[in-house]
Amino acid sequence: MTNLQLEPDSEVPDVADDGVWLACIECGEALAPFDDILYTCPKCDGLLEARYDSYPTFDDFSGSGVWRYRETMPVEMGVTLQEGNTPLYPVPEIEDEVGVEYLRVKHEGMNPTGSFKDRGMTVGVQVARVLGVDRLACASTGNTSAALAAYGTRSGLETLVLLPAGKVAAGKVAQASLHGARILEVDGNFDTCLDIVSDLADRGEAYLLNSLNPFRLEGQKTIGLEILESVRDETGAFPDRIVLPVGNAGNTAALYKAFRELVASGELAEDEVPKLTGVQAEGAAPMVEAIENGADEVTRWDEVETKATAIRIGNPVNAPKALPGIRATGGTAIAVSDEEITDAQRSLAEEGVGVEPASAASVAGLRKLRAQGVVSADERVVCLTTGHLLKDPDAAAAAGRDPEPVPGTTEGVLDHLQG
Ligand code: F0G
Repeated sequence: MTNLQLEPDSEVPDVADDGVWLACIECGEALAPFDDILYTCPKCDGLLEARYDSYPTFDDFSGSGVWRYRETMPVEMGVTLQEGNTPLYPVPEIEDEVGVEYLRVKHEGMNPTGSFKDRGMTVGVQVARVLGVDRLACASTGNTSAALAAYGTRSGLETLVLLPAGKVAAGKVAQASLHGARILEVDGNFDTCLDIVSDLADRGEAYLLNSLNPFRLEGQKTIGLEILESVRDETGAFPDRIVLPVGNAGNTAALYKAFRELVASGELAEDEVPKLTGVQAEGAAPMVEAIENGADEVTRWDEVETKATAIRIGNPVNAPKALPGIRATGGTAIAVSDEEITDAQRSLAEEGVGVEPASAASVAGLRKLRAQGVVSADERVVCLTTGHLLKDPDAAAAAGRDPEPVPGTTEGVLDHLQG
């Protein structure tokens, strides 16, 4: 499993700034992190990732939340809304029904703006301040825009968000709007929005805070770090598998990087790395297709559709980082139907855990992989639920019980209850 090593070997290049630099994952080019605004490699257009002169051990972490892991970050804490430190819920009924030894749900919907995006934004927006930009932008299926709007306004920077018209859940648009983002509703899907906003960023119109931005993903590593620490503290061992919904595959890439850094620091043996297991909706499953076909690259889907609008994405830009992560950790990827997603959303809700549809995909995927025998009964699994139920109130109401109209009298209510 050589892919679990950081490659190329982390020799500190001259361009490093305080022990931090950017490296191209394709050609290995080392770049100064804060001199120019870079999203991809100027030489070969490959994706970039942050590298460090040293990688911390668990003993180096202190405090709570994302900034507990500041030793793994490219910048000091700046703009924060106290993100991270999300609950790891037992879900005994689903654990029983699925039939695995240990199941926990890491509920990222409990972050300040209700999704995991806050972890990346606290870092990405701080880098934007270091770079001295004045306008932030993103394309979004909703959650990124809500997080960008909140962290942007808190840092005093202008924010611009491009959303696919008619395909963003109500709670997310409301957040972006109230936090003061300028919202552009694009006649096209998320992938079109990202194409446009990337062009705008290349032309210097705004600083891009989609997960193409290598610094944002540094914040998202902390999901993996929290999971490993919590499960180890609770059970004495790391989980065997982490199951997560996949859209742009930023989280998959970030978790993989967190694990490789722990391998580099000697904290995690290669055979202890959890199997990264991605779940997509059947109507938007290019990563699953690539994993099933053993392909090195993802083929973009031009037509995508799913009720899980957060992951209604046909061109996962982080695939070059995420595909090796799924493979090197011994994980896999699976597609689930909208019906399976809704069933899982209901099962989680029955245990008091309220999540948006995309989040429930993780549990739906686990259910299916266990039924297929890909996941075995002795596994210890963590499912990631990425966003809160209230993000998509329409989906929640449609999946839940209908309200019952009653007269405005106690007698009338009693009659109704007894009837
Ligand atoms: N779950 C939720 C709730 C999301 O909002 C997203 C992505 C994902 C999963 C997929 O994560 O892209 O790292 O694979 N939402 C982005 C957005 C695209 O614009 O809010 P990924």
